Amino acid sequence: MGGDEAAVTPRLPYLNARLQGLGTTIFAAMSAVAEATGSVNLGQGFPDYRGPVEVLEAAVAAIGQGHNQYPPGRGIQSLRDAVAIHQRHWYGLDFDPASEILVTAGATEALAGTILSLCEVGDEVVMFEPYYDAYPALVAMAGATHRVVPLRPPAWGFDPDELRRAITPRTRLIIVNTPNNPTGKVFDRDELELIASLCRDQDLIAVTDEVYEHLVFDGEHRPLAAFDGMRDRTVTISSAGKTFSVTGWKIGWACAIPQLITAVQTAKQFLTFAGGTPFQHAIAAGLALPDDRLRDVRDDLRMRRDLFCEGMADLGFDVLAPASGYFATTDIGSMKEHDAVAFCRQMPERCGVVGIPSQVFYDHPGDARTLVRWAFCKSTPTLEEALRRLATLSPSR
Ligand SMILES: Cc1ncc(COP(=O)(O)O)c(C=O)c1O
Repeated sequence: MGGDEAAVTPRLPYLNARLQGLGTTIFAAMSAVAEATGSVNLGQGFPDYRGPVEVLEAAVAAIGQGHNQYPPGRGIQSLRDAVAIHQRHWYGLDFDPASEILVTAGATEALAGTILSLCEVGDEVVMFEPYYDAYPALVAMAGATHRVVPLRPPAWGFDPDELRRAITPRTRLIIVNTPNNPTGKVFDRDELELIASLCRDQDLIAVTDEVYEHLVFDGEHRPLAAFDGMRDRTVTISSAGKTFSVTGWKIGWACAIPQLITAVQTAKQFLTFAGGTPFQHAIAAGLALPDDRLRDVRDDLRMRRDLFCEGMADLGFDVLAPASGYFATTDIGSMKEHDAVAFCRQMPERCGVVGIPSQVFYDHPGDARTLVRWAFCKSTPTLEEALRRLATLSPSR
């Protein structure tokens, strides 16, 4: 490449802008900073504790039994069967494992395959803001553009008229992430009914990201596909990483009508084609566990949420406690701080903790410039150490 910097710069202006000179996403960059500085990493959302032992042992057993070669492109039969049973058992949704379920490399590949296969150059995709950062990046890779509808704190509600206005004749997809990252919002029945009615009226395809479906503390998870007329116009995406605390396994899936699944698989076969064979076996075993084992993971995480959120409130942080998921948000305005990017950059040196400025999840951060996202999916000693360190920042001490 002869030292030509342009040759190694990603082609897409949107992606370059998002890298913010870091050369990687802020999450990976902050994890590297945490490692280099010995900081407590509350940036990237991955647990530092183990998931259900039955699932871990099933992966070891699958490797021992020789399940180590390429799986079928659509995923192993037993996992597709297990996903079908899971969707029926929890939500009353029927999907044919042969033609309506696709196993993917995490939810991320299901999202990528869906967006790349369904969007043409010039199409528009509607999403709520703050968003999971992969959505606009994948839309940009497809040559499409995105439009955002703000979710406003503290309840993270949206204005139905803003949603209606975001939909144009060019809109191809609407992405709905519930339970939501980074806000923890769980969309309620009325909100989902409104989204469903707009999809039906405007003939839109919905893409749902439900990776936190089993980590709801307050409220109830409702899949959009279960609403009237939505099963046939929704690509329902989830993954095992959060449900079983195995984010590194990257086993996900998409459920939809055969035409949509075939489209997603068309893109997928040129992304990874297939992968994770022993982990697919283990997740098939995990999905067959009694419901209580999944609830145990949720209840354990709820305890961590309460420990962290109450601890932060005691330190003087203005805490937006989440109804679901891995992340809490604080407004650092109450700490006499005005810019979360500067605050998060300085935190490793000031107190040895890493968090993420919420503005990376926004096109238009506005009042979100003082919001910080913290991952509380960490062991009790890790959370207690983080709180001890953060106490040194507290103006009240
Ligand atoms: C909302 C959301 N969607 C998708 C993903 C990625 O899921 P996976 O690791 O299964 O690709 C994450 C991971 O943090 C997430 O928070």
